[in-house]
Amino acid sequence: MTTTNRFTVFPLQARPNLGRLWLGAVAGTVLGAALGVHAATVRLDELDLTAMTAGWGKPQPNLSITQKPLALGGVKFEHGVGTHAESDVMISLDGKAKWFTAKVGVDDHASNAVASVEFIVSGDDRELWRSGVCHWGEPPRECRVKLTGVKSLELEVTDADDGNKNDHADWADAAFAFAGAPPQTVKTLAPAEAAVILTPPAPREPRLNGPKVYGVRPGSPFLYRLPCTGARPLLFRADDLPEGLTLDYTSGIITGKVATAGTYRATLFARNAFGSTRREFRIVVGNQLALTPPMGWNSWYIHYNRVTEATMRDAADQMIASGMADFGYQYVNIDDCWMKQKGDVPYRDTNGAVLPNWNFPDMPGLAAYIHAKGLKAGLYTSPGPWTCGGYVGAYQHEATDAREFADWGFDFLKYDWCSYGQVAGGSDLAHLQRPYQLMAGELQKQKRDLVFNLCQYGMGDVWNWGGEVGNSWRTTGDLGLARDSRLPGFYHIGFSNARHWANARPGAWNDPDYLLVGWVGDAHGMGQGRPTTLTPNEQYSYLSLWSLMAAPLIFSGDLARLDAFTLNLLCNAEVIAVDQDPLGRQGKILRQTRDEFVLVKPLEDGALAVGLFNLAAHPRTMTVTEDELGLSGPARVRDLWRQKELGALARTLAVEVPRHGVALMRVQPLK
Ligand code: GAL
Repeated sequence: MTTTNRFTVFPLQARPNLGRLWLGAVAGTVLGAALGVHAATVRLDELDLTAMTAGWGKPQPNLSITQKPLALGGVKFEHGVGTHAESDVMISLDGKAKWFTAKVGVDDHASNAVASVEFIVSGDDRELWRSGVCHWGEPPRECRVKLTGVKSLELEVTDADDGNKNDHADWADAAFAFAGAPPQTVKTLAPAEAAVILTPPAPREPRLNGPKVYGVRPGSPFLYRLPCTGARPLLFRADDLPEGLTLDYTSGIITGKVATAGTYRATLFARNAFGSTRREFRIVVGNQLALTPPMGWNSWYIHYNRVTEATMRDAADQMIASGMADFGYQYVNIDDCWMKQKGDVPYRDTNGAVLPNWNFPDMPGLAAYIHAKGLKAGLYTSPGPWTCGGYVGAYQHEATDAREFADWGFDFLKYDWCSYGQVAGGSDLAHLQRPYQLMAGELQKQKRDLVFNLCQYGMGDVWNWGGEVGNSWRTTGDLGLARDSRLPGFYHIGFSNARHWANARPGAWNDPDYLLVGWVGDAHGMGQGRPTTLTPNEQYSYLSLWSLMAAPLIFSGDLARLDAFTLNLLCNAEVIAVDQDPLGRQGKILRQTRDEFVLVKPLEDGALAVGLFNLAAHPRTMTVTEDELGLSGPARVRDLWRQKELGALARTLAVEVPRHGVALMRVQPLK
């Protein structure tokens, strides 16, 4: 060990978990005394690295993340830590540490020109040093940070905001000079937070929820269950429905077909023993579906390859029984794993029609079951020969499959790239677009509407063209696989998705993946469910972020295990109204710093939805000014989670926001 000198001898209890360091430090004391210098050093690689996170692989002492010798720009290093963006570690100090020094950069073995990272050193939640963006092949950058007074040090490696592909990062020759207790890594544990339900329960009087605008193609089957809260029984009425549609006045389900294109302005009514309500509803009969972001549930993050037809029927029952459908959740979507698995021949019947596996004995029956409740049915396949889970894909059977999905009665298709790369024949834009254009064309030919969700993780800047092909497009990799570093994975996915705000519009939405809250299975091992590890404030941030981004609100936790907190989180009508606003604009980024993220979403009635996200590890007063919001006249402010008026907007709006929490407000100009 390279401890050179020190002057403090620690009491035993002040040096947990530091066997090697202790011996070295004692040796250093002796050496230091001999040299007459009073400081000790310990290298980062000598600390316990189990608390260090990495976006891929496991941080390595004295080796790169791929276990090669550490090397930066041709210079080799014997000592240091190899990691991978996003990476993070917290180190506890006693205020007497002196220096942290290192040489940093992208490891030479990353051998990929796209690798780029940024190193950040923070002390007590203040940034102390930042490397700037480092690229592959560059010489190491010198990091020398004074630590006097610092008690909590954070070493972070970001992906430099361009994805973490090949981001092999080295803290080479990284060491601490200290005078008091030796530095030690600590596991960051979120402080315990009470799961406070912020939203008042829906009143017993009827309240009509859900989108105010709805798209359907001429002649396609129309199915819409009026989302309405309030004591049952409820009675419904609809005035000025277009010809061809009828409303069942007890179930509130509208069915039928509209032959003629046009915009129809209907009025919906609901009544119960305690009162009545009405709401405008625009039915746009034309070529556009999903005029507001789709809302529903998907099986992936809880049932994985365990999904069955029975699970799907139960999910439909639970969507109604839980009350979620009364807030606008309507799609009940099977993800991967409903077809035959590789090896389980035959995959298709003699006409080429794809065969579901034995877990799905009756696909048309399943769709009919879901429809009978006024809900919609969704399913999944891949343009490749195999899905990501190794089940049969649609490759070279696109027309047959599209027809079959429509015949079965499905209303939504997620089309997941998976194995398509093996047959794509190229990776330029045209090759990336081709399979999606092909399936879009086949879906167009069907006599029922299928909302089309592109899932190819953002390739070819899909946000620039996805709207010409489908109704929504995933902008990133899987949210369930996004690793925690400083912040839980949904923030990284959210920040990335937020950048494409200008591309979202009615019928065409950025899709940052599902709502992983409540009872969810760990995606890394396709595991059984367990309660989310997100804190309550992080969950409020998650739903706020998705709503401000006009993201599809697709829950993917266990519908059978919805607790009161999760249900409240998913079912705040005013938060959902931000997501479902008919103007269809995605929130624009007003501010993004290490500690703050601010989004502003214009709404159809001239109001603004504003989200102030505190990314710091402690509460913080966050502000936004009238000027920043582009407002001058009087306006009133409403807290959307609490559904409570906050009063008139002052020149500067200042709000205390909890750790990793959010203030989600609606600012309504009074004109
Ligand atoms: C991934 C996709 C996930 C899930 C999974 C199924 O590619 O992004 O959302 O569908 O495949 O295998």
